[in-house]
Amino acid sequence: MPAHVIGSDADVLAADLVHEHLQAARAAGREPVLGVATGSSPVRIYAELARRTASGPHSWADTWVFALDEYRGLATDHPASYAAFVERHVTRPLGIDPRRVAVPDAMAADPAAECRRFERVIRDRPVDVQILGIGSNGHIAFNEPGSVVDSRCRVVQLDAQTRQDNARFFGTIDEVPTEALTQGISTILRARALVVIAQGAAKAAAVRDAVEGPRSSACPASFLRDHPRVTWLIDEAAAAALAGAVSPAGRPG
Ligand code: F6R
Repeated sequence: MPAHVIGSDADVLAADLVHEHLQAARAAGREPVLGVATGSSPVRIYAELARRTASGPHSWADTWVFALDEYRGLATDHPASYAAFVERHVTRPLGIDPRRVAVPDAMAADPAAECRRFERVIRDRPVDVQILGIGSNGHIAFNEPGSVVDSRCRVVQLDAQTRQDNARFFGTIDEVPTEALTQGISTILRARALVVIAQGAAKAAAVRDAVEGPRSSACPASFLRDHPRVTWLIDEAAAAALAGAVSPAGRPG
């Protein structure tokens, strides 16, 4: 698994990778699909994509955008909902048609059926490049520790650590929902390429377990090493616990 310490160039490199993979989809005659993580880690990537869109010839008219997950029971107009995040940071700044955006429906009367529907959406239109963050507990999307590699879209209980970490987006921890709808690990691994971004000392142990620890449900991100095209963009603080050498800033091979 390649690991790259990029520092402040991570956003530029990630935006380059997004454009390359979406272009490859177009060259192959497909309408490209961008998979988006929410949370703090990817915000600067989306800002870089928006900057390029405002100043260049990039068109997103043919692009689909699929989210990874959503809090169960949070209305789409709640500012901490992932539907609101995707609209605020991705689809509005990039000018993407909302009809080309898919986020699991947090309010679905039958959430299990909604997860099956969302899994079908992604199966019918595989993601070309998926941006991922990593939880301080090693989760990817909301696949919390204990998640198995062949998991699909489903309803999950959020880990206490995740609710604690995400309380900053809500007033108090009590306002953080206890459940979510999430893509499974097998769903994520079907994307053609993965770009994982990790910043800050709070991610150091999770990055170490994901990259150098046993491939195990104890750290769901460790299953990313099953994927042939995964690029880790890690800053110095998040890389601090790695024993192995990491590449200096540069283009992944
Ligand atoms: C978000 C998601 C999560 C986050 C992770 C890191 O859609 O699925 O796995 O990527 O919790 O969050 P931040 O970037 O806020 O530290």
